[in-house]
Amino acid sequence: MRIVLLGAPGAGKGTQCMQIAEKYGLLHLSSGDILRQERSGGTELGKKAQSYMDSGVLVPDDLIVKMMAGAINKAPSTGFVLDGFPRTVVQAQEFDKSLHKSGQKIDVVLNLEVDDDVVFKRITGRRSCPQCGAVYHIENMKPVKDGVCDKDGAELVQRSDDTEEVIANRLKTYHHQTKPVVDYYKSNNSVYDLDANKDADEVQQLMIEILDNLTSA
Ligand code: AP5
Repeated sequence: MRIVLLGAPGAGKGTQCMQIAEKYGLLHLSSGDILRQERSGGTELGKKAQSYMDSGVLVPDDLIVKMMAGAINKAPSTGFVLDGFPRTVVQAQEFDKSLHKSGQKIDVVLNLEVDDDVVFKRITGRRSCPQCGAVYHIENMKPVKDGVCDKDGAELVQRSDDTEEVIANRLKTYHHQTKPVVDYYKSNNSVYDLDANKDADEVQQLMIEILDNLTSA
């Protein structure tokens, strides 16, 4: 199964993808997580990406397309779920071309729709595990012990781009550059719009229903 998960910052892409990847044995590829790893590893790509990420604008398409092509090549035969990529129509077109060359295509696009005011509350309260990437929220999804990851005991951190000013820029970028990707996919692929303002478990259930229907068809 080859799945693309679209949605605004804070729509719940990372939260949902982790569970979907585990349930269906897929590789979860988050472009944001890969970029953060490049940054913490001090690589050339990480250094180039830093200023874009810190101000809430997109890293240039050519860097991202190359980075994601390398990551997707390592996907198992069961498939992958993409989180945060493609984020521009150019990225989607380039990605389609490279899939086409290897006789593949995207099976389904899940589009998480969420209101901007919900995004602010979610992102300002997000805390993540720097070791395993698990995502929590100080009100909605608390860890058992305050500030500590349930899975590996690491101290939870707040992302440097999760400030109000940068969130406002990320939302603007989303509305201008990423929303058109939904229309791009609607012209050629199966796209499902999901109300992601709902509770995370309800959203998960909706996604599972769609994916189970597709796999049993
Ligand atoms: P990236 O890391 O992809 O950030 P984003 O798209 O802004 O998305 P987030 O990770 O903030 O949100 P999410 O939807 O995963 O939500 P989450 O599950 O964590 O990108 C960062 C930067 O990297 C970009 O700004 C850009 O510079 C660069 N970049 C990345 N990809 C790129 C690309 N393709 N091209 C160019 N540049 C790129 O949930 C958020 C919070 O809400 C959590 O606390 C969670 O616990 C909580 N929550 C989740 N779902 C629910 C729910 N249903 N109800 C209540 N709370 C919930």
